[in-house]
Amino acid sequence: MIVLDQENKIFTLHTQNTTYQMKVDQYHVLEHIYYGARIDNCDLSGLIKCGERSFSPNPDEAGRNRDYSLDVMPQEYSTCGVGDFRLPSIELELPGGSHTADLRYEGFHLEKGKYKLEGLPGFHGMENEAETLVVLLKDSAARIAVEMYYGVFEDFDLITRAIRLVNEGTETIRVCRCASLCLDFTRSDLDLITFNGHHLMERCLDRGPVRPGIQSVGSVRGISSHQHNPFVMICDHDADEDRGMCYGAMLLYSGNFEAAVECSQYENSRLVMGIHPYHFCWTLEPAGTFTAPETAMVCSPDGFGQMSRQYHKAIRKHLLRDPYQYERKPVLVNNWEATYFDFDADKLVDIAREAADLGIELFVMDDGWFGSRNDDNSGLGDWQVNREKLPGGLEALVPCVKDLGMKFGIWMEPEMVNEDSDLYRAHPDWILRVPGRAPSRGRGQLVLDFSRKDVRDHIYDQMKAVLGSADISYIKWDMNRSLTDVWSAGLPAGRQGEVYHRYVLGVYDLLERLHCDYPYILIEGCCGGGGRFDGGMLYYTPQIWCSDDTDAIDRLRIQYGTSFCYPVCTMEAHVSAVPNEQNGRFTPLETRGITAMSGAFGYEMDLGKCTEEEKRKIRRQVETYKKHYNLIHDGDYYRLSSPLQDSSYTAWEQVSAGQKEALVNVVMGCTHSAPPFRTLRLKGLNPSFQYQVDGIGETYSGGELMKAGYPLPQIRGDYPAFQVYLKAVG
Ligand code: GLA
Repeated sequence: MIVLDQENKIFTLHTQNTTYQMKVDQYHVLEHIYYGARIDNCDLSGLIKCGERSFSPNPDEAGRNRDYSLDVMPQEYSTCGVGDFRLPSIELELPGGSHTADLRYEGFHLEKGKYKLEGLPGFHGMENEAETLVVLLKDSAARIAVEMYYGVFEDFDLITRAIRLVNEGTETIRVCRCASLCLDFTRSDLDLITFNGHHLMERCLDRGPVRPGIQSVGSVRGISSHQHNPFVMICDHDADEDRGMCYGAMLLYSGNFEAAVECSQYENSRLVMGIHPYHFCWTLEPAGTFTAPETAMVCSPDGFGQMSRQYHKAIRKHLLRDPYQYERKPVLVNNWEATYFDFDADKLVDIAREAADLGIELFVMDDGWFGSRNDDNSGLGDWQVNREKLPGGLEALVPCVKDLGMKFGIWMEPEMVNEDSDLYRAHPDWILRVPGRAPSRGRGQLVLDFSRKDVRDHIYDQMKAVLGSADISYIKWDMNRSLTDVWSAGLPAGRQGEVYHRYVLGVYDLLERLHCDYPYILIEGCCGGGGRFDGGMLYYTPQIWCSDDTDAIDRLRIQYGTSFCYPVCTMEAHVSAVPNEQNGRFTPLETRGITAMSGAFGYEMDLGKCTEEEKRKIRRQVETYKKHYNLIHDGDYYRLSSPLQDSSYTAWEQVSAGQKEALVNVVMGCTHSAPPFRTLRLKGLNPSFQYQVDGIGETYSGGELMKAGYPLPQIRGDYPAFQVYLKAVG
């Protein structure tokens, strides 16, 4: 609910459990007043205190009032060069060469439903689902307008923000920085939580206190990256899963980003998040506009678990798009770890046949089916079937798979090219490359200049020919290197600072075309696993390959970190063979199944090599997943332990709406002889319901299970795992 107090110029955004307030002050600065637990009917501006602070300048309008300085005021969108020395949200290069920006309130308006951003991903909401407030700030000297969009999704405690700049002057301006989010706190006794890692180990949670100075994470790789995720949290020092104030900030963007927190001299904190300023410079002609990507904040006064559940529900309902918000997605088998590049049509059909027999519903043909692709040094860019491997083409292969009762999916890496390809030989100028410099290779490949429409059109024509040649239900859209040598032949020297962002817009453009032309094709995002796992991609690709690391034990950390923002249905997770291809570890098939089942579930192994006993187990896993599909995907997600803290087990739980069912998942760490008897306290159940344990018949009350706990069975072996399905009875 948006509440306007026009007389006092106070804007209040209420969600079910939170309140966000801002106010225009006496000098027309838009102050940030409050963000936290819901408070009704309030003017909280008394919380903001001013006092003279040396070396913190006073704006001209303040005259002799030395108590007022932008350097200490909490603001909605921080400026630079005019008295606030903390993290700026905006930096402009004005015609005279100055780098100042000074923004004052001009007005506001309301819009029905959730605002939309042209060419960029965003949460969506109809009139009865979301509200929009647009607050207008202006820099009258620079003649630039800043439209600040706020989207309020009351039921989800979710507030989105976006920024649109308009050059209202007659001269060209250069935008050097335009953050999407500025969130000021009048305190610094806070922790910063970030999600970090590398290829094969993405989104591992890191937590530490906000310290004096600036702490930041980000990416200058042209992708949101394996190294840092564009989702961060700020919380009370003692906040945990069930208690304490926490704030999530998610940037819906898939390229260079920065999330920085500054703890300033008077122990205030500021979080600024948006496109990374490295090599970013956008030319804004008169009447030109620039839109910064969207951010989505969830505040939870009741700990991380509640924040995550709100994100999960909001992402499913309002970020993913029809038809894959709620439609059941097929269990798949992917041939990558089974065959790598070494396959032919018979081999693929054999895998599909085994899979169909086990209840698997979709066969995904991974890398190696096109051009001269027999290893990773050639073929990218030539999206025509390799007839040596698949003599009958897709026209013959796809019907064979479909005759088995399965759907067919295909791997593509549209943004890339190998030098050894017909595409590169014909268009060597279509790549990102700095004139006079040989471009760096990554995985032996170069990056196509997706900022150029002609390049995108050519790739899209090839994709359409592939999709038109057979009944294809699924695309795995991969991207296997970081961007370097970022220079486009399509732009003049003075606009090269736009290339990184235009590249991302180009990727979004092609994905949007695919979505419009083939709405029923399910697109899986992938970037060497989880190198582009962000809210921007999720708008186009409702599921993303979580990591190239398929080891169940490593995946516990990866999926745990990912779950803080992103729902289970977005995390593609596969059971693979042992010893694991990435780290050589042996884990039981049950453990691999239970871990992968809390995701968009599939297999990635040569099922023909499985023993009859293994096949029996796989068939049962697939049945279990299908049986509990709604509970796993629609249920509330509870983290019961952290794989980073307790090495003896990792546990998580899904609870159905109405609390009638729950699925408890436990993966044991290192087992020991004569281990202690332990109990696991469950969450989210109804204390007065009686729950029966499936297959055992024991019953426990919800109160008992949540307060005293469920007795963990003593199981033997390496990394054993078990699932407990609870159903309310009586
Ligand atoms: C990336 C993906 C893998 C696989 C290979 C194929 O690494 O993450 O799943 O598709 O590319 O080359």
